[in-house]
Amino acid sequence: MNDPSINPRETGFVRLDLQQLFGNGHPVILEIGSGKGRFLISTAIERPDVNLIGIEKSLHYHRVIRERVMKRNLTNIRLINHDAYLVMKEMIPAESIAEVHIYFPDPWPRKREQKRRIIRPEVLSEIERVLVRDGSAIYVTDHQEYFEAAAPLIEQRFPSERRIPGPGDAPRTNYEAKYREEGRPIYEIRFRKPLQSTE
Ligand SMILES: C[S@@+](CC[C@H](N)C(=O)[O-])C[C@H]1O[C@@H](n2cnc3c(N)ncnc32)[C@H](O)[C@@H]1O
Repeated sequence: MNDPSINPRETGFVRLDLQQLFGNGHPVILEIGSGKGRFLISTAIERPDVNLIGIEKSLHYHRVIRERVMKRNLTNIRLINHDAYLVMKEMIPAESIAEVHIYFPDPWPRKREQKRRIIRPEVLSEIERVLVRDGSAIYVTDHQEYFEAAAPLIEQRFPSERRIPGPGDAPRTNYEAKYREEGRPIYEIRFRKPLQSTE
């Protein structure tokens, strides 16, 4: 099957036409930091009526996901190996994404590195821009301090709901499976772009 990767180093950071990219107008789900691709692949199989874009900064993980997608002949996934903020800002059209998913992003616990965290104001602005009206997003972490810093930034901007995944919720990613097995607490917040503009 065709390579699912889009390489901005070759194409430049051009705005994507998602309808043309997938060959249909199905809703598009964006995942930031896909790791080994468990969420992308299981969602692509369970929901063939959606399209998925996985942005993963690590070339190693990007290649792991690409192999898995090609092996399974999944045609509703595209992969971009670059920084998610840049990709969203330059490549993703406004109001084009139905759901944004962020699972266990790097916590950058050191004070001087916290500016690299993916939950930061300029990234949230991009999430707000790319989501369709009434589109939703989810951020999940095991890192309490990161969650306590990030959740208020989300709550300032979006209608949101904090929750704690229970034993009935299947793990969505490899990190979630591993941490839940270890009995670590998991923190989750779901948020939404309002249907009506508040401006
Ligand atoms: C701790 S892992 C979690 C992987 C997966 N989401 C999971 O839950 O199993 C964080 C992932 O985010 C990726 N990542 C970190 N910063 C990123 C960024 N700015 N843009 C895209 N991916 C990023 C890392 O390369 C890594 O694969």
